[in-house]
Amino acid sequence: MAKTKKAYICSNCGNNYAKMMGKCFSCGEFNTITEEIIDHPKATMMNLHDIDGVVTPIINVDAIELKRLKAPGIELNRVLGGGIVPGSVILLGGEPGIGKSTLLLQTALRMNKSVLYVSGEESLNQIKMRADRIGITNEECLLLNETCVENIVQRMKEVKPSFVIIDSIQTMFSKYLDSTPGTISQIRESSSHLIQFAKQNEVPIILVGHITKDGQLAGPKLLEHMVDTVLQFEGETQNSYRILRTLKNRFGSSLELGIYEMQSTGLREVSNPSEVLISEKDTDLTGTSIAATLEGMRPLMIEVQALVSTAVYGTPQRSSTGYNLKRLNMLLAVLEKRAGFRLGAKDVFLNIAGGLNVEDPAIDLAVVCAILSSNEDIAIPQNYCFAAEVGLSGEVRAVNRVEQRIIEAEKLGFEKIILSKFNKIPSKNHKIELIRVSKIEDVVKVLF
Ligand code: TYD
Ligand code: MG
Repeated sequence: MAKTKKAYICSNCGNNYAKMMGKCFSCGEFNTITEEIIDHPKATMMNLHDIDGVVTPIINVDAIELKRLKAPGIELNRVLGGGIVPGSVILLGGEPGIGKSTLLLQTALRMNKSVLYVSGEESLNQIKMRADRIGITNEECLLLNETCVENIVQRMKEVKPSFVIIDSIQTMFSKYLDSTPGTISQIRESSSHLIQFAKQNEVPIILVGHITKDGQLAGPKLLEHMVDTVLQFEGETQNSYRILRTLKNRFGSSLELGIYEMQSTGLREVSNPSEVLISEKDTDLTGTSIAATLEGMRPLMIEVQALVSTAVYGTPQRSSTGYNLKRLNMLLAVLEKRAGFRLGAKDVFLNIAGGLNVEDPAIDLAVVCAILSSNEDIAIPQNYCFAAEVGLSGEVRAVNRVEQRIIEAEKLGFEKIILSKFNKIPSKNHKIELIRVSKIEDVVKVLF
């Protein structure tokens, strides 16, 4: 009789060991290695793409345009690169309570194709209550309360849905493995079962994966390699805005982003995010500036807020939310050295409105101007916005896709945009006034 195989797997990174260890050498974590049954005589341990390989010259391969299934709404299709590819497997990760189940149930209810929603977390009654809250009924939305993947695959074969939702992969188990649901081996085995079904039957599947705050579960990390697309749903639970971000996409750009607002009747798509990211105010306030940034292919106008005050303690505090703290320190040093502002003895707090985390360097100039505005106590007029990177010698540098940023700023009614002199701007006929600068000193002259 075949033997049951065991392995010692790190629950943080998924690395395998032949014996028990105290420390994982791959990720450096302590006490994360657990014993798991990885192979049982009856377990399938599927070969994901069960096909006989034939060597083919690339020129003989026809590129078939994949006919994508349209998800309801604009945002989900955008992050998926234009729709759901048949047979693709999508992983939707996110912290508990962020709204993954709500997003998927509402997608299932709005889809005009048969959808099977498999829940291992909530009872049918609870799902129905949520559907009532969202306020849509759809007879093509089928529910299944099941956690055994072999049974789920059986049901999928009977019902033949066009689209399947598995909520969540951590609750699923294969009956051929002894370990409990949520362990690495169960997650791996259950998902390979489901992935194989998706590929063989051309049925797209969305898997929900939990990420705990302290990163306890490595399931989603391990799954990232197995699935075609990885989406992440993020946001602050106390803030009603949620961001759906593409982390990996075999069928589209991985830089896309969708914005939702959690309401009492489910998630609403935010079609013009710039409006929500810029806070409403009647008068000019000091310490705020607007940056024309890009998230993926999408232009966004984002408000930067800064507060500069005299340090109470010996060491000045520097704190930043949504912007890299090291970069903030660098910009402060540039301001001190190149523009002569004495910020060394001041506390500086920086915040990007709307809970976004911005990595686009084009936000630098807006950060600098928000800091100076707070420091000088002079407001930046509301009709100004910024799009430029700031270099170490205080030079204002060009940014990519400047045309797109200008058009977005113009669309939202800004009258002046401050850009680098070195940016090549293809078309000349913009209504918005382009102020071209080459050094921080030039910006200071314009504004303060
Ligand atoms: P949920 O989708 O259950 O999160 P997840 O599946 O990611 O764990 O969302 C839970 C939160 O969303 C919960 O705090 C209640 C809130 N919510 C609303 O605010 N409005 C709604 O219409 C729904 C269905 C949920
Ligand atoms: Mg849920």
